[in-house]
Amino acid sequence: MTSWISGMSSTTGPRRQPEPDPDEAWPADERDSLVDVPGGVRLQKVLAAAGVGSRRHCEELIGAGRVEVDGEVVRRFGARVDPQHQVIRVDGKRIPAREDLVYLALNKPAGVLTTMSDSHGRQTMADLLGDRAERLFHVGRLDYDTEGLMLLTNDGELAHRLTHPRYGVPKTYLADVTGPVRRDLGRQLMTGIELDDGVATADKFRVVETAGSRALVEITLHEGRKHIVKRMLAEAGHPVSRLVRTQVGPITLGSLKPGATRDLSVREVGELYAAVGM
Ligand code: URA
Repeated sequence: MTSWISGMSSTTGPRRQPEPDPDEAWPADERDSLVDVPGGVRLQKVLAAAGVGSRRHCEELIGAGRVEVDGEVVRRFGARVDPQHQVIRVDGKRIPAREDLVYLALNKPAGVLTTMSDSHGRQTMADLLGDRAERLFHVGRLDYDTEGLMLLTNDGELAHRLTHPRYGVPKTYLADVTGPVRRDLGRQLMTGIELDDGVATADKFRVVETAGSRALVEITLHEGRKHIVKRMLAEAGHPVSRLVRTQVGPITLGSLKPGATRDLSVREVGELYAAVGM
């Protein structure tokens, strides 16, 4: 028995073939418009060298359409790109493709200057970094007696943006202060503290623990003024006896030992770029 549908089709003549999709006419790996950069490096090699994963994993990412070069998805394994000048992203996050760029986290101990040299012979960042060939910038400053997370890089544009007030990158500190802490201290800090050079405001505040006449507090702010945390807390009646920076934007100090450095991961560098719109 002829079904109603097949009956219909037999009475309407041969079925019209759909128009070929011009995109589908090409194998997936020849579709993207990216023109190979003469003398460029194969995309999967660039991704693997940046630490994204093995070549095979990188090829899978490319095949899955998760890799962009200068804003265009590239699915062709053999595409040759220029890692010095092109912006390469995986899942929308920029990767550190330039092999000459270095991104480090350092746990600065107290008693170290945030400079690369000192005419008075005090310990500096350079003493902690050893004989590195790159000319590294420290991203912002910590006081001589402040400890904790310092980012260092030779990526000048990133370093500039991370310290520029326009990008408002938040920094978090643990402060050992004279207690006991008033219940409304957090509200006061987040409303704004009047200082000699203008009002300073915390983004977040919490009391981590209290012990007798001391308290450990955590404060987050996106201010970059000199001695800002110490001045804010002192003005609020809680002088700081020890200050440790635990986070800059998306990067945390974690368990890095005092005086030690570590390379930031590809993901961390991508998050830093994202934090400053790069
Ligand atoms: N605020 C300070 O008071 N000191 C630092 O080192 C950093 C922030």
